[in-house]
Amino acid sequence: MIIRPAWADDHDAIRAVVTAAFGQPDEAMLVDALRADGDALVELVVEEEGAIAGHVLFSPLATDTGARFAALAPLSVAPDHQNDGLGVMLMQVGHELCRAAGVEAVIVLGHPAYYPRVGYTAEAALTVTSPFKGPSFMGLALTPGALDAPVTIRYAKAFGA
Ligand SMILES: CC(C)(COP(=O)(O)OP(=O)(O)OC[C@H]1O[C@@H](n2cnc3c(N)ncnc32)[C@H](O)[C@@H]1OP(=O)(O)O)[C@@H](O)C(=O)NCCC(=O)NCCS
Repeated sequence: MIIRPAWADDHDAIRAVVTAAFGQPDEAMLVDALRADGDALVELVVEEEGAIAGHVLFSPLATDTGARFAALAPLSVAPDHQNDGLGVMLMQVGHELCRAAGVEAVIVLGHPAYYPRVGYTAEAALTVTSPFKGPSFMGLALTPGALDAPVTIRYAKAFGA
């Protein structure tokens, strides 16, 4: 098992994995659009025996404070590789690369019972004003205190949010 940055010749396989994970093409189209717009800040794949089994993308979020935030979306693990820890590993490696790129906090809109296993909480995102809120809207500070002060975020264009 290898986790590595996505390469240009992975794009077809990524499209297939994301579509299979979600059971629809919308999220794969989002990945293509984020990339086309230059908004793939960190994009990783997990390779199992030479085939792509999972994918994650982090895109920049604009903030009114100038703080550097990123959005985690989408996260996809192929159906026949789920529940093997790949999703957690993709996020953990992604967080380290985001941190190295200067990202102070990551925001996710996702399953409220899943993302807390890598540290996201809805409580941490309460300071964040965005088009989204509620238990699925979660945050993770990569730099201590990064989510302490009120901040308004704007998603990359491809989200249409
Ligand atoms: C959600 C997803 C990324 C998880 O990836 P994964 O590699 O299968 O998950 P991991 O192996 O890292 O973690 C498995 C654990 O998460 C739990 N889990 C998986 N999906 C979950 C969900 N939707 N809600 C809550 N818990 C979930 C599993 O029950 C398992 O729990 P356990 O460790 O207590 O047994 C994957 O199932 C997937 O691609 N799903 C379809 C697309 C999707 O929903 N993406 C996320 C959008 S918010």
